[in-house]
Amino acid sequence: MSEKVLYALTGLFETPDQIIDAAEKTSDGGYKKYDVNTPYPLHGMNQAMKLPPSKLGYAALVFGLSGTVSALALMYWMAVIDYAHVIGGKPYFPLPAFVPVMFEVTVLSAAIATVFTMLFVVFKFPNNSHPLHDTEYMKSVSRDKYGICILAEDEKFDENGTLKFLEELGATNITHQYFTEDSYATWWSVLDKKFAGILAVTAIATSLVVYIGLNKVLYMQPFSWMMEQEKLNPQKGSVLFADGFSMRNPVQGTIARGDLPYEYAVDPEGASKLVNPLPITEANLQLGKVKYDIYCSPCHGFMGEGDSRLRGQFPNPPSLHSEKVRDWTDGRIYHVIAMGQNVMPSYSSQLSRNEKWATILYVRALQRSLNAKESDLQ
Ligand code: HEC
Repeated sequence: MSEKVLYALTGLFETPDQIIDAAEKTSDGGYKKYDVNTPYPLHGMNQAMKLPPSKLGYAALVFGLSGTVSALALMYWMAVIDYAHVIGGKPYFPLPAFVPVMFEVTVLSAAIATVFTMLFVVFKFPNNSHPLHDTEYMKSVSRDKYGICILAEDEKFDENGTLKFLEELGATNITHQYFTEDSYATWWSVLDKKFAGILAVTAIATSLVVYIGLNKVLYMQPFSWMMEQEKLNPQKGSVLFADGFSMRNPVQGTIARGDLPYEYAVDPEGASKLVNPLPITEANLQLGKVKYDIYCSPCHGFMGEGDSRLRGQFPNPPSLHSEKVRDWTDGRIYHVIAMGQNVMPSYSSQLSRNEKWATILYVRALQRSLNAKESDLQ
């Protein structure tokens, strides 16, 4: 680039009011390709320059929505196709549970897209070259002056006319800015190699420190003390007790508060004598329905007909409407819930005593719904 090509005319102002006034007059004067440079953002500049609303919002919208859709698609694929599991009796595709994730991914992709669009599309990072770089003009406007810069490629631009125009605006230090070799430099040739080197070394050093810190140092004493506590873990051996077990049985002849042992653990027929202590009230039936739907319906079906929702992951149970179960006493059903039966596990840890009895009230109601007796209708 031996030939000097005019890039722009620049002028300086002393106060924010002057530059806003100048910007207004420049856009009124028909100039389109011009810019103002100020040490800090000025209120009212957008209106003075008659700038259209930023297009960045569209990038945020498009990427935000694609975040929503991909989050939904990924969760649908996992929950319905790849890893379909009934969890807590909920449907495979529980949309409300997915909303928080969709929201988060939307915000995340919109935010990332905005930053990246700004950096790489608007500012053309990492290409850092510009004809105004390192000019006196740029130094002044990044310190305490307010500058205007009218580009030579503007249709209305004419060297003398624009010069005069700037003078009339009251601009000082009016300067011709030219393209220089630097203006065309690639980002690599203007890259500050020393700075980039320091950055790279810092990045590698930080990664090493974090890696070694988290993976090695944390496992050394005294940092590992949090992990290696002197305590007895379930299922682990212990040298403290003579029998070598860390888990202890309750002291002979004692009962923990609120924990009445189940007497008929090995005696289903004995359990038949138990009587349901709960009256048939709406509240009890409601409690029973809630517990049944959560803990029993995945296998036994919402109506107790043995229509499992586990899609072959667990043997289907028999119907609860069989004559056998209908003829059982409440106590006999209680026994199945408390102790389980063959492959069906015990539900003692999930259901309290009252909840078990309430569930049985509800099972009775289900049975009546399919096999009502004459007497039930009265
Ligand atoms: C994980 C699946 C599963 C869940 C959950 C489950 N059951 Fe069962 N249930 C079974 C299976 C399978 C059988 C059959 C067991 C057998 O082979 O005897 C069964 C048997 C029974 C029987 C005896 C039926 C008969 O004809 O012998 C009763 C009563 C019963 N379940 C009640 C319940 C109640 C009440 C709940 C909720 C607290 C419940 N089950 C939760 C799988 C389940």
